[in-house]
Amino acid sequence: MPQLSIPARAAMALVSALAMSLAVHATDTSAMPKGEALARASDCFACHAVDKKVVGPAYRQVAQRYAGKGKAEIPILVRKIKAGGKGNWGDIAMTAHPKLSNADLTLMVKWILSLPAQGADAGAAAAATKEAGSHSYRTPEGKRVTTDFAVFTGPGQKQVTATVFSGYEQYNSYCFRCHGGDALGGEYAPDLRKSLANGMTFEQFLSTAMAGREAKGMPSWAGFFEEKDIRAIYDYIKARQLELVPVGRPPSAQD
Ligand code: HEC
Ligand code: HEC
Repeated sequence: MPQLSIPARAAMALVSALAMSLAVHATDTSAMPKGEALARASDCFACHAVDKKVVGPAYRQVAQRYAGKGKAEIPILVRKIKAGGKGNWGDIAMTAHPKLSNADLTLMVKWILSLPAQGADAGAAAAATKEAGSHSYRTPEGKRVTTDFAVFTGPGQKQVTATVFSGYEQYNSYCFRCHGGDALGGEYAPDLRKSLANGMTFEQFLSTAMAGREAKGMPSWAGFFEEKDIRAIYDYIKARQLELVPVGRPPSAQD
């Protein structure tokens, strides 16, 4: 175990405690194949989807790569998920899963490998239909900025969207202890507004948040947050970076 700062340890304890309670209200899994139900009850779907790359590869792509390799591949993949690691698909590491049994992991891997291969550009088509959209706003200083998500709802840039508001709440509940209240940067961790200003994309932000950098004190949030939560936090920080949202609780339709 690498040496971690006190806040890092506290955060990890919190994350694992809450992750356990979260698993309880997952989707109804009774009608699913056992392997899929187990994967959904664990943290797999924080980083994987069946049809698209999230942090890790689409499960259909995994099935495609190992199609025809035979049963010998199953225990290799089980070991890989247990130990975590990178290199087969890219530079981002899967987190380790030491607490999952080989029996459960084998069911999960069998389910993944049973998925029919994906049509060559089903993933690309899905990505294209996802609205990118472009929104244009003025900062209080009169500078024009654009975002690929809505920051405000209604007229006059007065109320932030429910997503940005939820990002504000989640950031200031879970990230602020290290990254500083109101996304101002902290003693223990970098100013995330600067990370975004320096070109960090949402994909890179999501990967770092889900995979963590545990050796450096950044916890993994897989199993605690879903992609949409990290998206909300990202949107809030981006709106803070662009100076569209001031410090403090932003006015929203919830008020
Ligand atoms: C326990 C302290 C701690 C908490 C809580 C924490 N982080 Fe971090 N985070 C860090 C540290 C430390 C780093 C810097 C790691 C490094 O040096 O590479 C970091 C780095 C990051 C980075 C990469 C920044 C860059 O420029 O490379 C992102 C993105 C990030 N954190 C997101 C989050 C989000 C989102 C949350 C809340 C859900 C969060 N962090 C909560 C400690 C924390
Ligand atoms: C923190 C994000 C994260 C979580 C959580 C996660 N994975 Fe992964 N997974 C990845 C990444 C990233 C890769 C690609 C690793 C590589 O490049 O070798 C990957 C790769 C895989 C692979 C392919 C391995 C290979 O070597 O080809 C399988 C199978 C897999 N994951 C299954 C799972 C299952 C099952 C779970 C839940 C128990 C899970 N993953 C949880 C991020 C994650």
